[in-house]
Amino acid sequence: MHHDIALSDDIRLRSLALADAAALAEAYRRNRAHLEPTSPIRDETFFSEEGQRTEIERALADEKAGGGVPLALLDEDLIIGRVTLSGIARGAFQSANLGYWIDAEYAGRGLMTAAVQATVALAGTAIGLHRIQASTLVDNGASQAVLHRCGFERIGMAPEYLRIAGRWQDHLLFQRILSS
Ligand SMILES: CC(C)(COP(=O)(O)OP(=O)(O)OC[C@H]1O[C@@H](n2cnc3c(N)ncnc32)[C@H](O)[C@@H]1OP(=O)(O)O)[C@@H](O)C(=O)NCCC(=O)NCCS
Repeated sequence: MHHDIALSDDIRLRSLALADAAALAEAYRRNRAHLEPTSPIRDETFFSEEGQRTEIERALADEKAGGGVPLALLDEDLIIGRVTLSGIARGAFQSANLGYWIDAEYAGRGLMTAAVQATVALAGTAIGLHRIQASTLVDNGASQAVLHRCGFERIGMAPEYLRIAGRWQDHLLFQRILSS
């Protein structure tokens, strides 16, 4: 399913495509230092067009299998962020994990709040989920502010939850219920 949502005149959130590989690699290179504290350690290949092509192929295969929804945030043709639903579970769970980042140049303008709100709407309608879970590092105030403003509630703290920046780090867990 192709998703394409206008967030303003210039900014939109749409399905990630293989043709995004070069622009996405460039965005990751521009934002390497910005993203390092909240990302797993990445090898050099990740920052190349070829590396991103592989990443996108994996994400699109996962989407085809019903496991995720990879989205790109754009300012006209420039990729300025990503939003991803991953680990979609059906059956009695109907749940997914949410991840996101935005280009440092675009941070602090309410754009990720708008993008997450749009993703929440999509997840509850087109994707038919009941719940979204997100996790943040304990000191990631900006991300927690986004989640609070999008109606997520804190549900706990998971010790050593993800290996981020080379260390298994504690995370706060949040969820948003989408339907009854
Ligand atoms: C987290 C992130 C996506 C937020 O994106 P953004 O577009 O700047 O978010 P918004 O502008 O919609 O909202 C950010 C809010 O956090 C607030 N904020 C910023 N730093 C904060 C802090 N240290 N503590 C509390 N709130 C903070 C901002 O003031 C803003 O709220 P306001 O509009 O009420 O002032 C962005 O900072 C980012 O990409 N960070 C690096 C990657 C990352 O952390 N991803 C999430 C991993 S869980």
